Amino acid sequence: MASPYPDGDREKVASKLPSALQQQLKVRAAELTLDIQDAVEAAITAWRATERPGFEVDTAGAKSFSTWLPPGLYEDFKDTCTQRNVSYTQGLAQAVRDWLDDHPSPTQAARPEETRRIVVCNQKGGVGKTTIAAGTAEAHAETPGTGAKYLHQFIADLTQTELDRLNRTREQLAATVSEYTAGGQNVLLVDYDPQLHLSKQLGITPIPVGEESLVRHMTGEADGDLRNLLVPIDDPRFGGRLHVLPGTREAFLLDSKLALTAAQSRGFQKESALERALRPLEADYDVIIIDAPPSLGLSMDAALYYARRRPNEKPGRSGVLIPVQSEDSSADAYDMLAEQIEDLEEDLHLAIDQLGIVVNLFDSRRGYIATSSLEEWHNLEGPTVVAVLDDLKEQREAVRVKRPLLAYDPASKQANIMRLIVAGAGR
Ligand SMILES: Nc1ncnc2c1ncn2[C@@H]1O[C@H](COP(=O)(O)OP(=O)(O)O)[C@@H](O)[C@H]1O
Ligand SMILES: [Mg+2]
Repeated sequence: MASPYPDGDREKVASKLPSALQQQLKVRAAELTLDIQDAVEAAITAWRATERPGFEVDTAGAKSFSTWLPPGLYEDFKDTCTQRNVSYTQGLAQAVRDWLDDHPSPTQAARPEETRRIVVCNQKGGVGKTTIAAGTAEAHAETPGTGAKYLHQFIADLTQTELDRLNRTREQLAATVSEYTAGGQNVLLVDYDPQLHLSKQLGITPIPVGEESLVRHMTGEADGDLRNLLVPIDDPRFGGRLHVLPGTREAFLLDSKLALTAAQSRGFQKESALERALRPLEADYDVIIIDAPPSLGLSMDAALYYARRRPNEKPGRSGVLIPVQSEDSSADAYDMLAEQIEDLEEDLHLAIDQLGIVVNLFDSRRGYIATSSLEEWHNLEGPTVVAVLDDLKEQREAVRVKRPLLAYDPASKQANIMRLIVAGAGR
């Protein structure tokens, strides 16, 4: 509904908005010395432009709300609502809520930084996703200080061949880790793979099919608190800071469940399903690491979406970490993953940062095949190689005894490479 603005350059629009949002909008606009109509104009314009799937706002009991907008904007907004299959009230509520998120109150203390979200992914199996998700989670959580000491010694001891593989000088590496402060973080490690390797390797019982799980939270089939499912890793090295969300075999059905839910319920956004499920836990964690399945389906889209750079988030804090092997089939797999990332970025207008490549199970005995393909990884446009790992026995031993690697052998080369990845991949 629109009627001309008294001085002609705006038209009056009447809609509905929950009274809590109306109140916050009024207060925030005043704090930022903006007219409410300008704030709503900015909110609607941003909401239409970003195309990020909006989280549903509870609009029950929304009260009438009117304001003045430039001619045509409200019509365009209604078109966007129709395209997104949401009511005008829902669309406006999302726009205002996002605007409030993106325009924090200047009187409040600076907003705490976003929880970092790191998705360890590659649709190829056996390349080291689970190993690296667990190892880097452990490095983020271990007792502060101890890791840095081991890491500096490790760099001092690297041979020239090892430095060459990393394509760095000892000085460059030392500079990368000079400010290494990882450790002491509250970390959530998510087993997102129906194969359940992560849960099993850490001796954690997976969630039986049919019970409340991450999958059921993503599809709206559960309404309990995900926190009740978390399992702390009980080792003094992590001081109660490292928690695991166990996996479930039901994740094999996640792609089809997401497609079905989207087809059946208006406004259900498949891509933001993982974010909706995990966001309530973010206040408790500094870092959330997702051990992704070897696939490129809808569940992977949801994981990639979760790793996107959020508004106000510094580039390189959240994103994807990609383990690969030094062989040609790994290069093809990477190309497909990179393509999926690009498609999602274009379709939903997002930025998904590639935090680094980890070349795993490097076998120099394979001679030219291994070294030439390592060189290709170094020459890749985009993400850098943050670590090169050999086939190391400590890794296999830790898995055998179902213990976290950094607790099993904190001084080992493998443990230090996990710290090196944390130091080099993102900030
Ligand atoms: N650098 C390594 N040295 C020794 N064993 C490794 C190494 N990286 C991975 N592995 C082992 O290889 C197997 C596959 O690794 P995993 O991390 O499960 O791969 P993905 O999750 O990509 O399928 C596991 O048994 C793991 O313990
Ligand atoms: Mg795995």
